[in-house]
Amino acid sequence: MNALTGKRVVLGVCGSIASFKAAQLCSSLVQLGAEVDVILTESAREFVTPLTFQALTRRTVYTDIHEAMPDLSSAHVELGMRADVVVICPATATTLSRLAHGFADDLLACTVLATRAPVVIAPAMNVNMWNHPATQANIATLTARRVCQVGPVAGYLAEGITGMGRLSPLEDVIGAVRQALGRNGALAGRCVVVTAGGTHEPLDPVRFVGNRSSGKMGYALAEAARDAGADVTLVSGPVSLPQPWGVTFVQVGTASQMADATLAASEGAAALIMAAAVADYRPVSVADQKMKRSGDALRIELTPNPDILASVTSRFGDALVKVGFAAETGEVTAEATRKLHAKGAHLICANDVTEAGSGFGTDTNRVTMFARGGDPTGPEVEHLPTLPKDEVARLIVARTAALVTSLRR
Ligand code: C5P
Repeated sequence: MNALTGKRVVLGVCGSIASFKAAQLCSSLVQLGAEVDVILTESAREFVTPLTFQALTRRTVYTDIHEAMPDLSSAHVELGMRADVVVICPATATTLSRLAHGFADDLLACTVLATRAPVVIAPAMNVNMWNHPATQANIATLTARRVCQVGPVAGYLAEGITGMGRLSPLEDVIGAVRQALGRNGALAGRCVVVTAGGTHEPLDPVRFVGNRSSGKMGYALAEAARDAGADVTLVSGPVSLPQPWGVTFVQVGTASQMADATLAASEGAAALIMAAAVADYRPVSVADQKMKRSGDALRIELTPNPDILASVTSRFGDALVKVGFAAETGEVTAEATRKLHAKGAHLICANDVTEAGSGFGTDTNRVTMFARGGDPTGPEVEHLPTLPKDEVARLIVARTAALVTSLRR
């Protein structure tokens, strides 16, 4: 299953120099499993052709109310009524104005009026048009109606200048679509804290002790929790991944910074998912100048870092659901069970990082979930097959959501 499998997405494309990017968005939505119906406004057809979108979706592309479904008297509302989400990308100043004022004079405007599904807008326009009070008033009107706005961002504009008005990166638009689809999900109204990546424990201003964590599993978990409706705080060590859309992002470097940020964010949270590979030790002393090379052996004394998950347990007890990870090389079961109890976790997701397709830097993972004895939400030991990390994340988040519900009942 993909993130958008079975979801009906209406993609409204307006006329802008950014219209060509809608073709890439359309392709990505299809690849994520969505059934995509495309509406091109009259002006969009000056920039891109229906044929492009027809080829990408293998479906009829809609451009005119009456031509679209000639045998249906309700053609003007049909797409909106059956949509799970409507995304308008790029959304131009004209379309924003028409939506804000409730126009019903073309298929896209009728669709937005007729839909009960969430609407996502990704504006793109000239910097002065964006900053104009009329556009800002229209945006305020739409935001008050719970329309989900993604972007624009500052950057290079087609006029050859730099400024606010550039279409958001498409990953963010997809993130907003996924978030909008899940806004009434199993974790709606709950705060979830996710930690991700490794930590860097400095030796001097240029060197550190670290590990191979890519952060992929933690970032996928943050997105999956967001897609289940949660307000997510992602506490991340240094990784080279883009920040996921729609989560509160806290950048940390060391284990001690991660501990502070995680304890603070866990106050009032419904769940903590500790996917970070926290350094177990840090150098006892950190040189304030770069250490010079010498011919002698170098001894580095390390001292243990506090266990963050165990600290959360001692501060908050079982007021929140705690999910830990155990990246092992060899015997997994005994270690996972030991960590479950030692850290006071509700769930330990264990994997053998020496296995191909499971562990650091890969796009897949093979996880076994270990729960406390008598856990009402699932088996005590649940083996998942090797799956893409975002699929693993969805399954872990689903179990976490069930634990949250059983804890709060
Ligand atoms: O003991 P080990 O590092 O294998 O435990 C892994 C789990 O404990 C992970 O969930 C990790 O995020 C968490 N952990 C922690 N604080 C540490 C070390 C690990 O919370 N100092």
